[in-house]
Amino acid sequence: MNKGELLYEGKGKKLFLTDDENVLISEFKDDLTAFNAEKKGNEAGKGALNCKISTQLFNLLEKHGIKTHLIKTLDDTHQLVKKVKIIPIEVVVRNIATGSLSKRLAIADGTVLPFALVEFYYKDDSLGDPIINDEHCLLLNLVKSESDLEELKRLGREINAIMKGFFAERKLKLVDFKVEFGVDHEGAILLSDEISPDSCRFWDADTNEKLDKDRFRQGLGNVKVAYEEVLKRILNH
Ligand code: TMP
Ligand code: ASP
Repeated sequence: MNKGELLYEGKGKKLFLTDDENVLISEFKDDLTAFNAEKKGNEAGKGALNCKISTQLFNLLEKHGIKTHLIKTLDDTHQLVKKVKIIPIEVVVRNIATGSLSKRLAIADGTVLPFALVEFYYKDDSLGDPIINDEHCLLLNLVKSESDLEELKRLGREINAIMKGFFAERKLKLVDFKVEFGVDHEGAILLSDEISPDSCRFWDADTNEKLDKDRFRQGLGNVKVAYEEVLKRILNH
């Protein structure tokens, strides 16, 4: 498949057209951003690590019946994906309080939540991705109907259940994560974007060491070492 014109460049990836109007090529970048891109960085090899990690996780989820945009991985940093219209809602699922949840509601960092908390954020950089509720989603026409929102929540919880168990077996706590969904040309809702240490929080099960983008956000160093460790645990179980 030919890598055609650049269709879109995001903070972590580029999307290219292909000969097939329903298929795109996704390229994982080495760039890192945080806090609405106020903090910027670059880590050589990060894109390749995220591409590999995301491929493994999308394959795992497909195996469990979650429909995704991934067709196949082409090389170290490129995936062939189905073209979708991204639903501009970031679905965040949390098992342990940290980050913006701890800050907003004064829940002590590290508190294990009594159930998986699903939140919606409006994917709009100029507004700083604000948290929104179901009615805001409908008001802004981000989805067609309430049943789509229920589907996003159901998918978020199911993805969480699958990944939480998978990572527990690999001595990693899945603290929280963000996923995005898109609608393909047949109207199906597909898991899209990526799942990687850029979009998840992983803590070592024994030491609570952070093995995700918080190393970059908080200036803890060893970003790539942490991402490599996540990939190693995924592969060498
Ligand atoms: P938060 O605690 O900053 O709200 O983040 C919750 C989870 O969502 C965390 O795993 C990081 C992920 N996330 C993204 O992937 N992109 C974003 O823009 C934000 C705000 C969070
Ligand atoms: N705000 C998000 C983060 O802290 C992502 C970003 O701004 O690029 O990771």
